Amino acid sequence: MDYLSKIDVSNTPEHIAIIMDGNGRWAKKQGHERLYGHNFGVESIRETLKAAKELKVKYLTLYAFSTENWNRPKEEVDGLMDLLVRSLANEVKELSESGVRLQTIGDIKGLPESCQTELAESIEFTKDNKEITLVLALNYSSRWEITNAVQEIAQKVKSGELTEISTEEISNHLTTKGIPDPELLIRTSGEHRISNFLLWQIAYSEFHFTETLWPDFKKEDLYKAVIDYQSRERRFGMVSEQLT
Ligand code: IPE
Ligand code: IPE
Ligand code: MG
Repeated sequence: MDYLSKIDVSNTPEHIAIIMDGNGRWAKKQGHERLYGHNFGVESIRETLKAAKELKVKYLTLYAFSTENWNRPKEEVDGLMDLLVRSLANEVKELSESGVRLQTIGDIKGLPESCQTELAESIEFTKDNKEITLVLALNYSSRWEITNAVQEIAQKVKSGELTEISTEEISNHLTTKGIPDPELLIRTSGEHRISNFLLWQIAYSEFHFTETLWPDFKKEDLYKAVIDYQSRERRFGMVSEQLT
């Protein structure tokens, strides 16, 4: 099936966010360790990024590691951090040549030094690219992000720098500052939950859930999600007749 031809490329989301889930189950199904699944997940990231660029998506945010994921066995956490460093080192040149700008959201200071260094170098190396921004959510959780924002805002109010707290003020204290809210949120692996991801930013996002496990997610799966998105009527609290 030619899914791409069914997409109106002039009306694709500017920002797609993905909860990449199911690496562990995918690996288990093939009789391998969980890390085997995470390794294969990198290929899905490559494919998804290519498809997003074809669709003129400007921001692709990927949930790569949550604050809750520290509670996994040490071997898996170490393996994931190592995979992050290796993948960045291997891919950054090619990413940059294809116009990808790298950004992160989350508590980056809480990551191992080696990750922080590799991330800082990759962000600097790709900073002038304009095709698409790849946002990696690392050591991220919404409740951490919102708590952090509230603390910063409270300080400003206390010092007299701020007298009124607006919606915009709150947005500007989140790690997603400057990034438009995602129009489309995808979660793979058949789970129907948000797991502490972008709670503020998805206020009006469309959700697409798929049974596909992340290492099996390929270009066609992104096309299908966008076709689903384009079939929705986004009413933003209004009635249908007001939208035309
Ligand atoms: C998603 O896959 C990747 C991360 C959370 C880092 P999982 O590792 O959660 O895979 P499942 O859900 O256990 O199958
Ligand atoms: C969400 O997946 C986090 C990432 C994809 C990084 P999890 O696998 O950690 O979520 P839960 O535990 O099933 O909710
Ligand atoms: Mg999972």
